[in-house]
Amino acid sequence: MTMHQRYGGIVPEVASRQHILTLVPVIEEALRALPRGWDDLDAVAATHGPGLSGALLTGLNAAKAIAWQRGLPFVGVNHLEAHIYANWLGAPAPEFPLVALVVSGGHTLLALLRDHGAYDLLGQTRDDAVGEAFDKVARILGLGFPGGPAIQRAAAGVGGAAPLPRAWLRDSYDFSFSGLKTAVLHKVQERQERAARMPRPAAGKDRPGAPAPQTSGLDPQFVGQIAYAFQESVVDVLVTKTVDAARRYGAAAILLAGGVAANLRLREELTRRAPVPVRYPPLSLCTDNAAMVAAAAFYRFAAAVQHGWALDVNPSLRLGT
Ligand code: KG4
Ligand code: ZN
Repeated sequence: MTMHQRYGGIVPEVASRQHILTLVPVIEEALRALPRGWDDLDAVAATHGPGLSGALLTGLNAAKAIAWQRGLPFVGVNHLEAHIYANWLGAPAPEFPLVALVVSGGHTLLALLRDHGAYDLLGQTRDDAVGEAFDKVARILGLGFPGGPAIQRAAAGVGGAAPLPRAWLRDSYDFSFSGLKTAVLHKVQERQERAARMPRPAAGKDRPGAPAPQTSGLDPQFVGQIAYAFQESVVDVLVTKTVDAARRYGAAAILLAGGVAANLRLREELTRRAPVPVRYPPLSLCTDNAAMVAAAAFYRFAAAVQHGWALDVNPSLRLGT
């Protein structure tokens, strides 16, 4: 994150080079935690999509090389499925059917899980992913990267801000967040234009200690109100559609997954409005991690799924394939 922050987001080439640099030390560290080291492994798994091809290639080829050299079975995992399976880690296994809301930097989707590996895609975003919207709005507000946690912090303790629009896309479980992002941009531009027209207060002896006038920057109170209204709008749409799907399909529980599942307001509101128990992974397992990939692979492997060396990366892999 500290490296990506310098560029205000993830640059694919930088990300894949960093994967090459970090992969071996990370694998060595993970193996040190095993009593018998390499001999403790039963299978090797890696994400093969969706995602950035350079990063995917690095991980997939490393996993294949290890599996080949150790004579172990190899399992390719869908990254979105892995996010969902973070809910199986360190908690009793949930009962099917389940409704899962996957909200990350690259994806936003609602799925019905009938059983392990049996998914129906109910809806997805038609434009920006939720995390992407958080990141873009944070940039507009000058809050930095990653945007999700920054917006959550800026919105904390704010109340009663004027609401921003919600895209309901009636009779559909699809989502759209680009209009909301544009609405934020217009509010900020309006504010900046108004500030530019205001006469600047004269700094002088009669106003000792007066703060320097804001000319280009946005004042923290305005930023907090926009961050709050944006978060409320996103959470309302996500929760309403997820709760509706859970009722319609008789879900035994709702699973929240992906980097945006770290959002406390989303967790709180979904739990408050859901007709069934809501489960979400601990914060450390919400954003991208390898444990969730292993969890998804465990159930695949148990169902005798294995892949050959020809398995390639698929940057636009969909859920259920
Ligand atoms: O799943 P993830 O780690 O990576 C992808 O596969 O995309 O998700 C990263 C996304 C980022 O867009 C980040 O801003 C968002 O998750 N995120 C949050 C929060 N923490 C991370 N969004 C809202 N609230 C948060 N607390
Ligand atoms: Zn992810």
